[in-house]
Amino acid sequence: MSAPGALPPGLHHHPGRLDAAAQGALLAAIREAAAEAPLYRPAMPGTGKPFSVRMTNCGTLGWVSDRAGYRYQPLHPETGRPWPAIPATLLELWGELAGYPHPPEACLVNFYEPSARMGMHQDKDEEDLAAPVLSVSLGDEALFRFGGVTRGGPTRSLRLRSGDVLVLGGESRLAFHGVDRIYPGTSTLLKGEGRINLTLRRVTRP
Ligand code: SIN
Ligand code: FE2
Repeated sequence: MSAPGALPPGLHHHPGRLDAAAQGALLAAIREAAAEAPLYRPAMPGTGKPFSVRMTNCGTLGWVSDRAGYRYQPLHPETGRPWPAIPATLLELWGELAGYPHPPEACLVNFYEPSARMGMHQDKDEEDLAAPVLSVSLGDEALFRFGGVTRGGPTRSLRLRSGDVLVLGGESRLAFHGVDRIYPGTSTLLKGEGRINLTLRRVTRP
């Protein structure tokens, strides 16, 4: 289902917020970060089932998942090193769009191969839910699904394209959301097929 019409309160879509030059510069910064903090494949809490996306982080805290659960931690789970700094352009974007007076602490980097998806979930591992989650899409288009704050309610879908920014704040801060599919070959930004999604989060209460 596509979603013409107004989005729910707190959910803000900024199509094409980053132009081609800004996308290229951001991609270069993320490649540099991933050279220092390599993408790895997280596992589901409990079952240990591998995610279809690979992940890494920038920032003082990174979001990780393994058999023990979901959490934020200051070190990469495989290298044991601190995560690289959040690229300056992302901090600027947060300053412009987040409507929140403190900087983000985590930037989760999700890499979707063409077959990867993400099941419906809430982002609720953060202490300060007054801060929004700000998401940036790079590369191939994605079918993003969102609903309300209870699981199993009605949902709508949005196409997220390279350069789009989505802000989940206010009444939509705890909205369920996920990625149903990627449309391979819809962007030429990356060398090959796939999609990168960056989500900026404030984790601790200032
Ligand atoms: C996420 O919910 O962490 C990612 C959303 C996206 O890939 O657009
Ligand atoms: Fe999420």
